[in-house]
Amino acid sequence: MEYVIYNKNTPVFSFEMIHNKIVKIIDIYNPEYRPVQVKYNNKKNIIEKSSFEHFLKGRRIPDTRQDKDILLENIQGKSLYELSLAYFGLSLSDQYWIKEKNDSVEWKDINFFQNNFSQDMGLFIFGKSDSSFSLKTPNNTSDGWLKKAWILDEDKRILVKGSSKPFYQEAFNEKIAYEISKILGINHIKYEIKNMGEMTYSVCENFIDENTELIPVNAIVQNAQKPNHISMYDFVIEELEKLGVNNAKNGIDEMLFLDYIIFNEDRHFNNFGFIRDVETLEVKGMAPIYDSGTSLFYNTLDTAIKSANPNVKPFYTDRKKQFELIKDRINKKIDTDKIRKIIVDVLSQSAYLEEFTPERKIIIADKVVSSV
Ligand SMILES: Nc1ncnc2c1ncn2[C@@H]1O[C@H](COP(=O)(O)OP(=O)(O)O)[C@@H](O)[C@H]1O
Ligand SMILES: [Mg+2]
Repeated sequence: MEYVIYNKNTPVFSFEMIHNKIVKIIDIYNPEYRPVQVKYNNKKNIIEKSSFEHFLKGRRIPDTRQDKDILLENIQGKSLYELSLAYFGLSLSDQYWIKEKNDSVEWKDINFFQNNFSQDMGLFIFGKSDSSFSLKTPNNTSDGWLKKAWILDEDKRILVKGSSKPFYQEAFNEKIAYEISKILGINHIKYEIKNMGEMTYSVCENFIDENTELIPVNAIVQNAQKPNHISMYDFVIEELEKLGVNNAKNGIDEMLFLDYIIFNEDRHFNNFGFIRDVETLEVKGMAPIYDSGTSLFYNTLDTAIKSANPNVKPFYTDRKKQFELIKDRINKKIDTDKIRKIIVDVLSQSAYLEEFTPERKIIIADKVVSSV
């Protein structure tokens, strides 16, 4: 069967797909609108099939997702890959979608930015329902390992994310990262804490709208060949600047500065990116920082925090070495009293930590302010 991938209203190319397997690329319509991850040979007018497969396979719930097994039992015998294509492959982080060539359906009638979506799967993920559910949801394609769901709050699209054992700290960490960014003048998406039942979640609004897409830095890192003589840091900034991301260096430096302060352990290349207009293809700039929760010794025992030196990402594993990249250019003054207060205030909102280890927030705050 022939399918077409669209970017919003623009057909990009068509391809043959049988049982969710891409057989071949058929016609190329508007290759410049393709996902950056998908390789296109301009001279030969060829879309590289394997890069398209790779793109689709990466646009799904990962195997590492918490409680994946319970989810799999409830999605009508589908694999996570099949699930990602179940409702036109739509997402709330970009405007790509796939339809059968002869289907007359239009983007305006199905996209999740302007149309409502089923809340079933969100409720299910957070343990509120065990019945079968509608697959008309952007949660089919969401990335990341923490339990999460897009929900509707009046006309806003909100990403709700859980936290992991043993300290359930990530949701609070997101808020701390946002609050610290705010006092430092760093562009971080706003996270708030939300209690649902026994659990606490982080919530943030969508920073993508129906005219934009989030392009993770991984999209450029995975395709381009880095010459040996330049560092990964310089390479990423150069590639971003070539694409028109004018504030790339500043944005990345500020992000690395935040990550240095909060001991972020998981800033891999899919955890930051830039924003592009899907109509004009104009690059808008770096996306606000998101996903800073895997930080602040989220899974380290209290007794090990003082001497902890966790590995970091994405340019170096050593935190101090990564900081060397930006040290000379950062001229932000760190108010350690404010940072201490933010950490203590936000972590004391965790009923779990207050009950089991009320001194943990002090141990973390002490470590952070003594390490900047
Ligand atoms: N506020 C947001 N607006 C749009 N897309 C987002 C937003 N937050 C996250 N995303 C997208 O959802 C993915 C998963 O969210 P993330 O916060 O990274 O979860 P996890 O902590 O499980 O990795 C991100 O990689 C990004 O593509
Ligand atoms: Mg992530």
